[in-house]
Amino acid sequence: MEDLKTDSLIRHASLRQLQILEAVARLGGYTRAARALHLTQPTVWMQVKKLSDVVDLPLFEQIGKQLHPTAAGRKILAAAQDILERLGQLDDDMMSLRGEVKGKLRISVVSTAKYFIPHLLGAFVRRYPDVEPCLVVTNREKMLQRLRSNEDDLLIMGKIPENLEVEASAFLDNNLVVVAPPLHPLTKKRSIPLQSLLEENFLIREPGSGTRMAIDQLFADVGLQIKPYMNLGSSEAIKHAVMSGLGLSVLSLHSLRLELAGNHIAVLDVEGFPLKRRWYAAYPKGKQLPLVARTFLDFLLQDGKDILQDIPEQKPTASAVRR
Ligand code: PGA
Repeated sequence: MEDLKTDSLIRHASLRQLQILEAVARLGGYTRAARALHLTQPTVWMQVKKLSDVVDLPLFEQIGKQLHPTAAGRKILAAAQDILERLGQLDDDMMSLRGEVKGKLRISVVSTAKYFIPHLLGAFVRRYPDVEPCLVVTNREKMLQRLRSNEDDLLIMGKIPENLEVEASAFLDNNLVVVAPPLHPLTKKRSIPLQSLLEENFLIREPGSGTRMAIDQLFADVGLQIKPYMNLGSSEAIKHAVMSGLGLSVLSLHSLRLELAGNHIAVLDVEGFPLKRRWYAAYPKGKQLPLVARTFLDFLLQDGKDILQDIPEQKPTASAVRR
């Protein structure tokens, strides 16, 4: 005989109710959830009440002005998140089987890649207008956490992680250069020894950044240790600090197009630079890429370089790269 107690959610709850509960918990209220789901506030409230009646427990409680899930609410929320995620993947799989390049494209990129990936996404969406890109920009360390928990379809990074099993394809060059304010005396010198940088105020990205890792490695390889004058959390902050005369730094050429074009920053001719790296698109080994992600990967490999060449401020500065 059927067990009436264990299947009451299957019989009386709906996927729509789980979606509503998730939205109320995530957005912290019935009105905001209603707005996000294009429903009325009483409908949202009523659906949460119906779900609460099925389990015979309250799912939210009001503390001050805040709505919080109860213990039962949290349990159902965790299950709802799993179920909705799984259904999202199922939708992707069905679209792939129908051969449709559409739906969510989840990409996470290290912060330096934000200077060129939006241009490539723009070109991709023009070709496939039904694709919905979701872009997360973070530093290398946080991106590797996302890779471990399989939160994205593709990850764009400057170095393949050694201790994680990934499929990775290089699709673009990434040259790191030493930058200084345009009137700095070193701009007049050629083949500046790496050691000279130790005498300068050196500005460096935060620990966890891939750029920072590459610089630390370069100095370590020749037995030097750089003492950073200042740690700054982003390439933008570093550029402004360099332009204001606070010190020198090493940045990816991709992040410097506008400043170089406007002569606001200068590239120094330092031995060992440009530090030549590549950009990789990666995903966990064994992952079945949805068709939209597979198509974007092919697009990066086939067309990525040419598309960036055609964008004026993305054109490589020949003099900076040739050294
Ligand atoms: P970052 O990474 O933006 O975290 O410095 C860049 C890279 O890995 O080259």
